[in-house]
Order: sequence, then C-alpha cells, then structure tokens
Amino acid sequence: MATDPITAATAMPRFPAGFLWGVSTSAHQIEGAADRREPSVWDAFTVEPGHVKDGSDASVACDHYHRYREDVALLAGLGVDAYRFSISWPRVRSEGGLDFYDQLVDELCAAGVRPVPTLFHWDLPVALDWLERDTAARFAEYVSQVAERLGDRVHKWITLNEPAEHTLLGHALGAHAPGRQLMFDALPVAHHQLLAHGLAVRALRAAGATDIGIANSHGPTWPASQEQADVEAAGFYDLLLNRLFADPLLLGQYPDGLGELMPGDVESDLKVIAEPLDWYGVNYYAPTRVGAPDGTDIDFGGLTIPAELPFTVRQIEDVPVTDFGWPVVPQGLTELLTGFRERYGDRLPPVVITENGCSYEGLDDQDRIAYLDGHVRALHDALTAGVDVRGYFVWSLLDNFEWAEGYQRRFGLVHVDYETQTRTPKASYAWYRELLRAQR
Ligand code: NOJ
Repeated sequence: MATDPITAATAMPRFPAGFLWGVSTSAHQIEGAADRREPSVWDAFTVEPGHVKDGSDASVACDHYHRYREDVALLAGLGVDAYRFSISWPRVRSEGGLDFYDQLVDELCAAGVRPVPTLFHWDLPVALDWLERDTAARFAEYVSQVAERLGDRVHKWITLNEPAEHTLLGHALGAHAPGRQLMFDALPVAHHQLLAHGLAVRALRAAGATDIGIANSHGPTWPASQEQADVEAAGFYDLLLNRLFADPLLLGQYPDGLGELMPGDVESDLKVIAEPLDWYGVNYYAPTRVGAPDGTDIDFGGLTIPAELPFTVRQIEDVPVTDFGWPVVPQGLTELLTGFRERYGDRLPPVVITENGCSYEGLDDQDRIAYLDGHVRALHDALTAGVDVRGYFVWSLLDNFEWAEGYQRRFGLVHVDYETQTRTPKASYAWYRELLRAQR
C-alpha cells in the first residue's frame, strides 16, 4: 500500500466520465442544536442509561447546525461532486426548521457541490411510530413539504436510509432507538417504511422531482460451513438483510411468503412500494459469516445477537478488522454487486454506493486509506464485470455520533475534537482529494 496519497490516487483505474464522487453524513449524527427542533426517538432513547456505550447524546454532536459553512468549505476543499446529508423530520416539524436546509443547500450550490438529501435517517419524531400505518402517510406529507422548498436545487433524492437496520436494531433487538425488542413482531415496521418510501416517491414525482433512490444496507452472506443447518441459517440472514427490502422494491413482491406476515392490504401496497426507482443506493461495509444457532447470545461488533434467533453471526477469520471489529473484505463489494445484478437482472436500476467506510483512530489513518483504496478498486471490478454503478459516497465526512456506540467510533475523513469542535483533515482526506483530482 502506497502511503503517498498522490501516488496511491494516480494508480487507481479510471472511472467513467460523470461518475459521482461524494461523502455522506446524517442529521442526528452531526447537527446538534437539539434545542432548535422537536425531539426524536433517538433523543428519548439516549437519555436512558445503558443505551449509548459512552453515555453520550447527540444534543451537540459536531455542532454542524452552527458550523455548516465551515463543513461545506471542507467539502469544497475535498473536491467532491456531491454531498449526501439527511433532513431531520423533527426539525422540519419545528418553526422555521426548513430554513436551515434551505441555507445549507444554497451554500452547497454556491460551492459547486450537489445536494443529495436523505429524507429519513432513523430520527423519527418522538410523537410518531412505525408500527402505525399512518406514519407512512405522514412521511409523504413531510416529503412534499421538503420537495416544495428544496426541489429546485436538489440533485438526487434518497427516501430512506437502511430501513433494515432501523427495523432490526431499533424494533426487533432493541439496540437502537426506539429500543423495542419485538423480534419477528417488528415486521410491520418494515412494511410501513416500505409503504412510506413508495408514497414518498409518488409525492416527490408529483412535486416535479427526478432522480429518486433509496439507501439500503447490503453485504454478502457466507455460510459458516457447507452443512445444511449453516447454509439454511445463512439463507435466512440473507433474506432479512438482502431481500426483505430489495425484493418488494425491485420485484414488487416479498420473498418466501413473508408478505403473509405483513399488515394491511399487502398486494395493493406492493404496487405503491414498487414505484420504479431512478437508481438504487447500496451501503456496504462488510460481508457476514452466518451459522446455525448454537444456543448462546453472541457479541457481534458490540451488538448482542440473542440466542433465540434462527442464526448466529461468526467471525470471519484471517482478514484485518477495523477498530469496530468489522472485517475488511473489499472483494465482498464486487461479489455483492455482481450477485445483485444476477438476482435482479434488468429490474436493477443504476447503482450508487451511498455509504462505504470504516472506523479507525488517529489522524494518520493509513488503515482507512487502505480500506477505501481497496473498496474503490473492488467497485471498479464490479463496473468491469458489467454492473452499472454511477457513484460512490464515503461514510463519513466527519467523525460523528455513531448511534449506540456514541463518539467512540471515528468514521470521518475529518477528525472532530468534541471539546473544541476543531475540524482537522486526516491523511485519508488528502488521499480522497487526490483520487478525485486524478479522476477528473
Ligand atoms: C450505516 C448508517 O447509515 C450510518 O448512520 C452509520 O453511522 C454507518 N452505517 C456506520 O455504522
């Protein structure tokens, strides 16, 4: 691995002209200014002791709400084409809440960075609940309001971020807000988010918006062995992570009879859910090795997987791991994308990698450079193999509030000192800047 960013960046294969390079963040993780918005389920969750590992909350976070100009200057210095951020629904519900995003979008446009907002990134207003079908309709109303105000300047829209994690971690296992442990009774949360997505696509199009996608997390699922029990357990995990959301969106049906477990008039909802997408966003971090349950709870990167689930997650041997303990497997991205292309064929619209990144300490973050370099190459391999990939967004611009982990995990290209709010670009920032220069 070359340590000199210029050498490393110029050695990267060329991506097609017009390929969209960016970075991502989300509102709750960076904005702070909690006093200028309604509370979200995450505010309610974090005040209860034991939910966030370092006992922190996101009431100040990176104070981006007050420092967005400085952060946009960092984006401009990086030379990205686009910036993926999220809009806080609880903020939009408060007096003047959309003004902030209006100013942010103006600032981005003035800096030559295209705005790519996500409309829901887990910070549901505390007054709402995804177990209720009505939340989907309320979401569409809020989306219309945002589209009306920002639609003339937005480059691409993202409806939801990782509804699979929000369902599984937030409502089935209770590791994330709102902290429910409903196990399989959490399935309506999946359906209502999908319905919200479909209604939002319609609302956006009605407001004249184009270029609409979603950001789903996906990763290859590897069985722990070729034993039937392990293969079945891995198949089930694959269904939850890779098909529960993608099949209804891209094929208009739930996989393997799961539709029968969903509430409401599922057949008619599926028509809304499967509104054609302009592009499909993939958040990729790592593959997962999955085996048959062995009757014990397991700790997986800080997440407790309860014994009663029909699978268990095993360590992937002989690969480096990030500070979070996540395996580093760049070729997993190629495998994922070529597998998606095989599964969905022409139903798969152009793909954008809406998140990819890793947590490491330190300013001279050579490990992050190695991770990102490997993944961008793996993405190029997927392009060469015929997958229509149009963009790549690094998670994240800034170190930020990593949900139940608090501030202990640092995913940023830019270091944040939370005492002083000083931003310091890391070595990986210089690497990405040089990569983008070399690709022009
Ligand atoms: C997925 C989520 O969208 C984002 O909020 C989170 O910080 C990263 N992955 C890293 O875990």
